[in-house]
Amino acid sequence: MIKAVIFDMDGVLTETSHQHFLAWNRLAEELGYILPLEVKDAVRGISRLASLDIVLKAVNADKRFTESEKLVLAEIKNIYYIESIKRFTAEDLSGGARELLELLKENGLKIALASASKNSKFLLRAMEIKQYFDIVVDPAVIQKGKPAPDIFLKAAELLNIAPEDCIGIEDAYAGIESIQRAGMTALGVGDAAVLSNCSIVFDNLQGVYSYFVRLFRE
Ligand code: BG6
Ligand code: MG
Repeated sequence: MIKAVIFDMDGVLTETSHQHFLAWNRLAEELGYILPLEVKDAVRGISRLASLDIVLKAVNADKRFTESEKLVLAEIKNIYYIESIKRFTAEDLSGGARELLELLKENGLKIALASASKNSKFLLRAMEIKQYFDIVVDPAVIQKGKPAPDIFLKAAELLNIAPEDCIGIEDAYAGIESIQRAGMTALGVGDAAVLSNCSIVFDNLQGVYSYFVRLFRE
C-alpha cells in the first residue's frame, strides 16, 4: 500500500535541469570549450562534483585540472547556477506540481524530497512549497549519490515507511535506477527515450496527478 511519495527536485518540481546545463555551459565556454547538448541529460541527478567530471570528459579535458582546481571550478559553476535561480518564485514550479502536492496531502500520504542538489532547500522556500514536505534529505549526509539507492532509502528511513510502500518520482535515468534499487515504485517525468529504464513515464506532472487520482479511486 502506497504511504509516501518521494520527489526529486530538478527537472521534476521545477525545470532547473536547464539552469544547471546553462551554468555548466558558461563554465565550459570560459575554459575554451563547447559543451555538447547531451551533457544536459548526462548530469541529471548527478552530484555537483561527479557532474563536473562528466562535463570535463565530454570536452576531453578530464586530465587538465587537479582535484583542488576542480573544487574551484565546481564552486564557480554553483555561483552561476545560484545567480540563475535567485529570483525564482512560485511561478517557477512545474505545471501541476502544487495540485499534485495538495492531492497527496488530502489523501494522507507522506511527502519527501530526495534531491542531490544542495540548493534544493532554497528552491522549496522560494517556490513556496516547503510546507508540503514531511522530510527533506540532506544530500551532504549521503555517501553514494544516484544511481546508488542511498538517498531514497534515507528518505524512507526518515519517514519510517518501508521502501515498498513508497513511490519515487524522477526525471533522470540515474534517479530511476536509484528508486528501483531502493525497492520502490518509480515514476518517470519527461522524455521516455531518456528514461528507458522506467516503465511508467509521464510527459509532465499533470500526468502524474491523473495517475494518483486513478490510484486513489481503486
Ligand atoms: C541534481 C541535478 O538534482 O542536483 C544535477 O539534477 C546537479 O544536475 C545536482 O548536478 C547537484 O546540484 P547542486 O545544486 O548541489 O550543484
Ligand atoms: Mg532531477
